Amino acid sequence: MMRLVHHHGIEQVLRDLTDEIEADYRRWDLFEKAPRLASHSNDGVIELMPTSDGEVFSFKYVNGHPSNTAKGFQTVAAFGLLARVDTGYPLMLSEMTLLTALRTAATSAMVARHLAPKEARTMAMIGNGAQAEFQALAMKAVIGVREVRLYDIDPAATRKAAANLRGRGLTVVSCESAQTAIEGAQIITTCTADKAYATILTDNMVGAGIHINAIGGDCPGKTELHRDILGRAATFVEFEPQTRIEGEIQQMPADYPVTEFWRVLRGEAPGRTDARQITLFDSVGFAIEDFSALRYIHGKLHGSDFFHQLDMLADPDDPRDLFGMLQRAA
Ligand SMILES: NC(=O)c1ccc[n+]([C@@H]2O[C@H](COP(=O)([O-])OP(=O)(O)OC[C@H]3O[C@@H](n4cnc5c(N)ncnc54)[C@H](O)[C@@H]3O)[C@@H](O)[C@H]2O)c1
Repeated sequence: MMRLVHHHGIEQVLRDLTDEIEADYRRWDLFEKAPRLASHSNDGVIELMPTSDGEVFSFKYVNGHPSNTAKGFQTVAAFGLLARVDTGYPLMLSEMTLLTALRTAATSAMVARHLAPKEARTMAMIGNGAQAEFQALAMKAVIGVREVRLYDIDPAATRKAAANLRGRGLTVVSCESAQTAIEGAQIITTCTADKAYATILTDNMVGAGIHINAIGGDCPGKTELHRDILGRAATFVEFEPQTRIEGEIQQMPADYPVTEFWRVLRGEAPGRTDARQITLFDSVGFAIEDFSALRYIHGKLHGSDFFHQLDMLADPDDPRDLFGMLQRAA
């Protein structure tokens, strides 16, 4: 994955993924959709995220363990599989830790290019962990953000992100509070990890016209925004039945109005309606984004050496003589 990304260039990959995900969102009704299967524990969650468009099937295995980094493990690690629907045979097994960071950033950029103020050039990035640089680069590559203002409760995370973003054509400003980070920003991305009803942003911090890209609230009992912000914002979600369980809107009554973002893309619902409106993308991560990302990577493999052939399927000469194949190997 790392060699493939460097071969094509990370900003190109982010642009391509943004377009791939958007193209799949536009054919939303063709996909099988269900809230992901989540196995919760005191430490975190392990999730399975399947979908299919009738020709190709995919699933991702992903965890979310906010206390992992203190133990030297990543908060989010993932792998996934692409398969043919006509035979049910797998096509590709892929790492998806990097791919999740790329597709999450591309999804943020896809939504921001339709909902953020058109002149948005400055973003605040609150939470400077594993996802942060990908988020900033996608906003640069896709909608032309020029300045990123970083804040994390851990200054070491901010130093890491600032160093990684140096020399990439972005003005990087390290800030000592979330309040300072949001100054002058038209886009605020929250991407923190804490298994809590956190208030990374309070209502008074969010001015008119801001686009909020809320990434880190993605599990029951794990949110980032004060509910009063939701009271003022037009809220856009991926797949409503999943986001009601996992997103910022878990804090709100069941009839709190939201718009599934694919409807904006298809012209079936309004996006941003005026310059002073606060738009909120309540991102939790949906299976179609992983499907698009896996299919994009699969499409890049032909003629490359970015993959290994895996001997994972028993392959008897006579498909009904599985036992005979086993016997002959004795
Ligand atoms: N929506 C999606 O599609 C999606 C995809 C991937 C990850 N996520 C979520 O995004 C979050 C970030 O993921 P990551 O891989 O970057 O995690 P990470 O652990 O690498 O980084 C999280 C950062 O948040 C910081 N932080 C925690 N509390 C904070 C606070 N109150 N204010 C400021 N900073 C704070 C931590 O110090 C850390 O540096 C996680 O909650 C993860 O579950 C969502």
